[in-house]
Amino acid sequence: MSIHINAKPGDIAKIVLMPGDPLRAKYIADHYLDNVKKVNETRNAFYFTGTYKGKPVTIGSSGMGCASIGIYSFELYTEYEVDCIIRIGTCGGYTADLKLLDLINVEAAVSESSFAKYAWGIEEDRIAHQGNAFSVIQETAKKMDFTLRNEAVHSSDIFYRKDMDVPAIALKHHCSAVEMEAFALFANAKYTKKNAAALLTVSDIIPTHEKISSEARERSLLPMIQLALETSLQL
Ligand code: HPA
Repeated sequence: MSIHINAKPGDIAKIVLMPGDPLRAKYIADHYLDNVKKVNETRNAFYFTGTYKGKPVTIGSSGMGCASIGIYSFELYTEYEVDCIIRIGTCGGYTADLKLLDLINVEAAVSESSFAKYAWGIEEDRIAHQGNAFSVIQETAKKMDFTLRNEAVHSSDIFYRKDMDVPAIALKHHCSAVEMEAFALFANAKYTKKNAAALLTVSDIIPTHEKISSEARERSLLPMIQLALETSLQL
């Protein structure tokens, strides 16, 4: 048991797939895992452990933002012996070069967030994915015939703001999309010497205001979910 996760030691697999939304974690566990057990419900941050094609995997939510994923990922790495966390989430495209439903394997996360600096003394505003999960995702996508883009993304602390121009830090690092969690996940993995990747589906294109509808959302995330699950077999 850790402060924010009341799972028993041994109830969490070495590999955790981490959507932001607890109900998405439940959906994935219900549809794809066998022998499922709910192992955490503190704050309704649901974690489910089961097997995928025989291999143990845990699916659990990060909540939104660096503060939230910073807490869950650190406790998983340090108190539950988790080796690898793959965030599976959505992002907004900063340019119309991205299309709705494009799949992104995050090469690096860029942020104005003070999280990495004040937590671990990591001064850089760009933190790469950690360990081999990124390349295993690449190889798995190739085998599945999925097209993946490798991109640097902006992990913003801000969803609503008055000026919708692309922020300076995103321009500086050529970030094509924005989300809110990968930077803290990669910072924690770097500090604890663990494995972390982030797979994102483009859910909206900011300059054109295109969005996937809420009805289409569940279905449209299935390729990303399948890719993450298949990747977990190779880790
Ligand atoms: N901003 C931040 N996070 C997001 C967005 C966005 O526009 N879309 C999906 N996740």
